[in-house]
Amino acid sequence: MLNTIGVIGLGVMGSNIAINMANKGEQVAVYNYTRDLTDLLVEKLDGQSITPYYETQDFVQSLATPRKVFVMVTAGKAIDSVIGSLIPYLQVGDVIMDGGNSHYEDTERRFDELKSKGIGYLGIGISGGEVGALEGPSIMPGGDKDVYEKAAPILTKIAAQVNNAPCCAYMGPKGAGHFIKMVHNGIEYADMQLIAEAYTFLRERLHLSVHEISDIFETWNQGELKSYLIEITAEILRKKDEVTGLPLIDVILDKAGQKGTGKWTSIQAIDNGIPASIITESLFARYISALKEERVHAQSILTGPKYEQPQLDTNEWIDYIRQALYMGKVCAYAQGFTQYKMTSELFGWELPLKDIALIFRGGCIIRAEFLNVISEAYRAEPNLANLLISPYFAEKVIDYQMGLRKVVCEGINSGISFPCLSASLTYFDSYRKGISNANLLQAQRDYFGAHTYERNDLAGVFHTNWN
Ligand code: 6PG
Repeated sequence: MLNTIGVIGLGVMGSNIAINMANKGEQVAVYNYTRDLTDLLVEKLDGQSITPYYETQDFVQSLATPRKVFVMVTAGKAIDSVIGSLIPYLQVGDVIMDGGNSHYEDTERRFDELKSKGIGYLGIGISGGEVGALEGPSIMPGGDKDVYEKAAPILTKIAAQVNNAPCCAYMGPKGAGHFIKMVHNGIEYADMQLIAEAYTFLRERLHLSVHEISDIFETWNQGELKSYLIEITAEILRKKDEVTGLPLIDVILDKAGQKGTGKWTSIQAIDNGIPASIITESLFARYISALKEERVHAQSILTGPKYEQPQLDTNEWIDYIRQALYMGKVCAYAQGFTQYKMTSELFGWELPLKDIALIFRGGCIIRAEFLNVISEAYRAEPNLANLLISPYFAEKVIDYQMGLRKVVCEGINSGISFPCLSASLTYFDSYRKGISNANLLQAQRDYFGAHTYERNDLAGVFHTNWN
């Protein structure tokens, strides 16, 4: 019998996707460039119908037409070389899917090249890590709609399910799927950094123990902050180091890594005039963290503020931090969704904002309870300019801004750095003002460079001879 789908690239993600497909009743062909990973997967199998192949030609010829090949290799040149190795054996109407974290512009180039050969190409954002790949990730496919339809029965089956709805939906043309995943990761960076800042305040300013903070996160995870990242933070803080017996968090080196998707999100925002300050601050926070040796040296030179810290009521301030974190998250998601909206308009993509929020509810790293409300906001008003002004979130942030202001001010007075909490507050305060100080910038530009300006009261473009 012919196989119904093929998976290329049998690292942990690829193997788990293959097993997930087989668990859902697919006949899966698998292939890896080197034999070792194929053998590893075969050893792990527990009766699933997965057949290994050791030559690309045999692998492709084992597939029912139209052939569907799911590529799960490291983003970059490896994808081009896999595509190159498949082309000689594929025919018009077959479909290649890239499930890695490819840059959406690379996906667009590959889409065009393959389309000219009659081969369908889907750039598929996949979120959920190793467990998600195995049990049900969030799936963000982009490409031609008719090509998506060929793969949809399999993709929707292997996706996470929330209230019996799959966390997989058609996102838009060409590179739209990988674009959605890229910005998802930008939001992920911001969300993680906001949580880290809340943790810092609880630990350094309220002087709570790691264990107590873990309990607080666990409690928060039962309310409106309920989300995967809050849940795993509670678990992380409970974990003890087997060597020292200390909380494991205290022996982990404070230098953050990154693989590029958050950086791409910021670059795309900057290139296209999209305000993504919280996401970008979270990226820079990782960069500063990486300067560990310099920071340790600077600590002996640069003392912090001479500030007599007032005694804070612990319970009252825990709730301020909860409000600050919730509001920071709302602002970060508002920036991410604005990036979707503005890019969609720029590229004519018609990204389904409501559905993006829906498929983020399960499987993915930024899954969170409040995505239900985000989705509802876009259902009620598909052209909503910004989540902050939707009735639900407007009421929330108006209410919670005091918590955010208190935490940011107290933290800054105490010498704690708050890249994302303060960027959230700045974003909120900039966005809610009908009048900004950019008139002064325009005057300065006109003064030194005759760059001209517009007026509030008269149409046209003006220049003043300032001196
Ligand atoms: C996901 C994750 C996943 C990966 C990130 C990590 O949605 O499953 O986002 O794609 O964990 O790429 O990114 P950094 O290494 O850049 O933090």
